[in-house]
Amino acid sequence: MSASAADGTVNTHRADGPAVTGDGTRAVRAGLPEPVKHEPTLPGPVFAAHFHLPGEPTGPYTYGRDENPTWTLLEQAITELEAPGRDDVETLVFASGMAAISSVLFSQLRAGDAVVLPDDGYQALPLVRAQLEAYGIEVRTAPTGGDAQLEVLQGARLLWIESPSNPGLDVCDIRRLTEAAHAQGTLVAVDNTLATPLGQRPLELGADFAVASGTKQLSGHGDILLGYVAGRNGEAMAGVRRWRKIVGAIPGPMEAWLAHRSVATLQLRVDRQAATALTLAEALRAHPDVTGLRYPGLPDDPSHAVARQQMRRFGCVVSFTLPTRERAERFLGALRLVDDATSFGGVRSTAERRGRWGGDAVPEGFIRLSVGAEDPEDLVADVLRALEESAG
Ligand SMILES: Cc1ncc(COP(=O)(O)O)c(C=O)c1O
Repeated sequence: MSASAADGTVNTHRADGPAVTGDGTRAVRAGLPEPVKHEPTLPGPVFAAHFHLPGEPTGPYTYGRDENPTWTLLEQAITELEAPGRDDVETLVFASGMAAISSVLFSQLRAGDAVVLPDDGYQALPLVRAQLEAYGIEVRTAPTGGDAQLEVLQGARLLWIESPSNPGLDVCDIRRLTEAAHAQGTLVAVDNTLATPLGQRPLELGADFAVASGTKQLSGHGDILLGYVAGRNGEAMAGVRRWRKIVGAIPGPMEAWLAHRSVATLQLRVDRQAATALTLAEALRAHPDVTGLRYPGLPDDPSHAVARQQMRRFGCVVSFTLPTRERAERFLGALRLVDDATSFGGVRSTAERRGRWGGDAVPEGFIRLSVGAEDPEDLVADVLRALEESAG
């Protein structure tokens, strides 16, 4: 399915094919099997609880909770995106981003260990924290910005990074944190959901695990839940694999296939959505009612200097604050091209008043807006009109 050339480039699809260097080419070919006459380019989903297995129960395909050929192709595709040119990395797909996150935390940590989490990360992390503590694991937290997690790293078994953070869009220096962690034997996992592997490659920055919710921009259509963990082959990933088997948090073949199909357009979507997000952020910057505007791609954003060092694209999420909760609700109600919905990364723009969930330390008027694939002029006009209409 892929072969590493001596110069480190990867030929996907055909071992003897041309070297793949561009992200678009890599995305459309990622994880495709060798062509077989009369077979489709991307084989359809394989629905199987079990596989024919006479004699010794050896793999690759034995039972549907352990392995599935549709997962294998998607896992290969994600490996090619997260770690191009490396053959020491494997990916495991999961039923959701939370399943992937939990698989790393709960397979790597034991009672008595300490773990460092961000205090401004995805809003289910506090639930995870409570569960870790119930198992006798010490949980320390610090903000993402300013590399503040460094201050509580001493002696920890695992450092969990989420950069850019959701929903505040702070960024930390992944390489710096990883070097400090590794110097004392601490494992590092990075939640790469917001950036996608085309925006940032945590494994290249030194991390041990790149973890993501594929529910968001990776699959990009707001119609499936999925997660993955990419990491170096070896003991740590064997633990993650074992966790998937015993918890059974596996994706359905249809979800895996839909995600793989969507990866082909990842570069188109990510580039389009990031360009429009920057245009929208620039338009919002001029609006008198908007405060706390954040987008890591804005040259004067507090995250920009570090983001530019480690990110190749800055994502599709823009966040900002309107003066009151009521104003934010009126704004959301006045939007016509942006659905009032949670999640992000889809081709259809969505926005929400993040404070409605109660889990994030954000002002009442805080809006997280996920920029979709609409025409930039249409989207910006809709947002500016909704801002005017909601002002009264
Ligand atoms: C940064 C981040 N990580 C993980 C998750 C969890 O992913 P899922 O909803 O697929 O379980 C989310 C969901 O919003 C997220 O935003």
